[in-house]
Amino acid sequence: MPDAPDPRENGPPVFDAAFRARLGDLFAWRRDVRRFRADPVEEEVLRACLGLAALAPSVGNSQPWRFVRVSDPARRAAVTADFERCNAAARDSYTDARRALYAGLKLAGLKEAPVHLAVFCDGATEAGHGLGRATMPEMLRYSAVAAVHAFWLAARAHGLGVGWVSILEPARITRLLDVPEAWDLVAYLCVGRPQEEHADPELVRHGWQARAPESAHLHER
Ligand SMILES: Cc1cc2nc3c(=O)[nH]c(=O)nc-3n(C[C@H](O)[C@H](O)[C@H](O)COP(=O)(O)O)c2cc1C
Repeated sequence: MPDAPDPRENGPPVFDAAFRARLGDLFAWRRDVRRFRADPVEEEVLRACLGLAALAPSVGNSQPWRFVRVSDPARRAAVTADFERCNAAARDSYTDARRALYAGLKLAGLKEAPVHLAVFCDGATEAGHGLGRATMPEMLRYSAVAAVHAFWLAARAHGLGVGWVSILEPARITRLLDVPEAWDLVAYLCVGRPQEEHADPELVRHGWQARAPESAHLHER
């Protein structure tokens, strides 16, 4: 079969009002997902989303993101156990009503998600030749975050849900996954088809944290 034509050959596309409306839908309907269906994710869909994530911006064009698919059942179980330990400790750091509220939240879908992706930032990469990192070295990790967000949106556009799990001990996860020491854990992602679709975040729905008004974080000088 011949390759599909490259859309970039015809010059820059026109993003019209209809496209912007659909893009708005994508942003509004991207969710952090913790309830997954068990059916597997097709390899080509996962690859397409990873391909789009790789178009993310990065400091000095360093592209420091490293995606690790965790398929080994023993490793997945160990990550889940680490989450349960860290989640219990986090719960116990709250008191009274907030603690009860926390205990009622579902904060990961590690057991159900067909795909686990650990995302690391390669702190030893020479790509980018240090540009943009001299005074703000954290930019390398921020670049990996940009790729995670791109993956999140791409996945949503392909009918997949993504749940970001950060209630983990990063050093333990890094050891468990046997990756180079210079790789820092940035995100642990559960990926699969969502059981439910919602226009509002789960933490809003369950009374943990409301959304701020859109203008709340714009300051003028
Ligand atoms: C850096 C980062 C870490 C997160 N870690 C967790 C987590 O450990 N568990 C969880 O349930 N949600 C986690 N989330 C998802 C947020 O709770 C979620 O994005 C937020 O409540 C807004 O909901 P929405 O993504 O559905 O819009 C994380 C999100 C980000 C950006």
